[in-house]
Amino acid sequence: MCGIVGYIGKKQASDILIEGLSKLEYRGYDSAGVAIIDNDSINVMKCKGRLANLEQKLKEAPLKGSLGIGHTRWATHGEPSDVNSHPHSNEKGTISVVHNGIIENYIHLREWLTSKGYNFKSETDTEVIPHLIDYFYNGDLLDAVMKAAAKMEGSYAIGVISSNEPDKIVAVRKDSPMIVGLGKDEYFIASDIPAVLNHTRDVYLLNDKEFVVLTRDGVKLFTEDKEQIEREVYHVTWNADAAEKGGYEDFMLKEIHEQPKAIKDTMTSRVMMGKPITLDDIKITKQQIENINKIYIVACGTAYHAGVVGKYVIERLARIPVEVDIASEFRYRNPIIDEKTLMIVISQSGETADTLAALREAKSHEARVIAVTNVIGSSVSREADDVLYTWAGPEIAVASTKAYETQLIAMYIIALFFAQNKGTLSEAELEELKKEMLKLPEKAQKCLNHKEVIQRFASKNYMHKDIFFLGRGLDYAVAMEGSLKLKEISYIHSEAYAGGELKHGPIALIEKGTVVIALATQDDLFEKMVSNVKEVTTRGARVLGLAFEGKESIEKTVDSAIYLPRTNPLFAPVLSVIPLQLFSYYVAVQKGCDVDKPRNLAKSVTVE
Ligand code: F6R
Repeated sequence: MCGIVGYIGKKQASDILIEGLSKLEYRGYDSAGVAIIDNDSINVMKCKGRLANLEQKLKEAPLKGSLGIGHTRWATHGEPSDVNSHPHSNEKGTISVVHNGIIENYIHLREWLTSKGYNFKSETDTEVIPHLIDYFYNGDLLDAVMKAAAKMEGSYAIGVISSNEPDKIVAVRKDSPMIVGLGKDEYFIASDIPAVLNHTRDVYLLNDKEFVVLTRDGVKLFTEDKEQIEREVYHVTWNADAAEKGGYEDFMLKEIHEQPKAIKDTMTSRVMMGKPITLDDIKITKQQIENINKIYIVACGTAYHAGVVGKYVIERLARIPVEVDIASEFRYRNPIIDEKTLMIVISQSGETADTLAALREAKSHEARVIAVTNVIGSSVSREADDVLYTWAGPEIAVASTKAYETQLIAMYIIALFFAQNKGTLSEAELEELKKEMLKLPEKAQKCLNHKEVIQRFASKNYMHKDIFFLGRGLDYAVAMEGSLKLKEISYIHSEAYAGGELKHGPIALIEKGTVVIALATQDDLFEKMVSNVKEVTTRGARVLGLAFEGKESIEKTVDSAIYLPRTNPLFAPVLSVIPLQLFSYYVAVQKGCDVDKPRNLAKSVTVE
């Protein structure tokens, strides 16, 4: 949450900061601001609302200078307002700071600084940082930032500039992401790679508690003990287009369409006919797999929904008991973990605070952790024992689509890998499943062809206040994801129910005209699902059914139906989620919502 950027070079910082922030707006869009050094003084411009507001202000009153920092905010402490916007400065205006994270002991620090005569303007936790740096400043900005950081508890990625040292940016991270971009005679800091990609593909990935000093001569990294660190340059191989809309109306629509490729890329070199599943970054041995007596899959939001599918498939194929947990719940329920437990964390960003905390909890009890993540060098990838990268490419829209698809693929790969090691499936069964899996990209492409039907259905139903999703087994897992997508981007209240659970309460909500989306892809549960659909149509619901081609009999029960190319029902989630994503998308567009930046949300939740 919140995005930060910094630039030092020869060009006008303002343009570069705004461009960088535009790539980070997915992290928060409650306010935006920049601080730029010109003629040895800092000029700050910041305002509430989207980045476009700041851009307009800068057009009216441009800020000159070739060194600066910028911020796009997702409000935590203090409402979205001009005064709570970053950058925050000390009273003399000689130090400015941008911050992503939460300073958990800010109340204590604020009281302490107040007792030393400091005055505060905002309600933010961040404002303690420039005052703390001011307190410790004694002619050496790096030293003052280090001393301030030693007092700060919580999570932070901060960028600091000072008019006393006008040719320098100092930055540090702890539990919040930050990278350093290495251009030609110009250097950058940013919360995420896309922010620098138009200028350089060479970056340093920072570890926790590493300090960086950027000058026009280069970049130096230090430990908290001021020892200089050598860091390998990480060369980004995906191109800047991957983080552009590429002719689509929105990132979300583009990312939905990228799914066939993302599925294929995630399987490449891992799932091959006639060869065992090979996972380069997973070092867990056959013996360790045989020793596992329980798996926890822990994640948040959409990633959690991928985990629910993971539970079904790992239990079905590898016969290991799996519990799926919401990360924010898991860590506070004193879970039973020992060295025979395996944890799988799923996180697109690899930075979700609760998921990271759950990972640490598992590791502190000697459990092995596999991370499934989309971001190379992210915190979960660094702290887990094994990593399975999803190859979705950068996901910019706040609502996750292609990352979810690749997380599903990762679940199938892990399930097959365990089954292969445990011998729970025969060679022939494994080959058959792989064969079917390899056809998924093509079948996912076919699902995208239903666009017009779904668009029509959406245009007839976008004004409803409530929409329900029903499914059994794996269909229920996908129903949950469909429901989340709809509520987060269209603000329509929606719920997902397990078909069989309906009559234990939720059916009371069904009345004439209620819209229900019923998933019926699981052959062994098809008839039962049809009965559940009848229960709601009898009470006046209008139902859109989702079933495989060849199951046209569902038309007798539903008002309209969408047919998916047939696959093994185990893989149905990969296909059935696509019409649900498109439905949410078109409903949100009809309602005039900003699909890429839904209200109150941020892409990466780095606070608890
Ligand atoms: C919903 C969505 C969120 C994320 C959740 C976890 O569309 O994107 O629910 O799935 O915040 O984020 P990651 O996967 O980055 O840990």
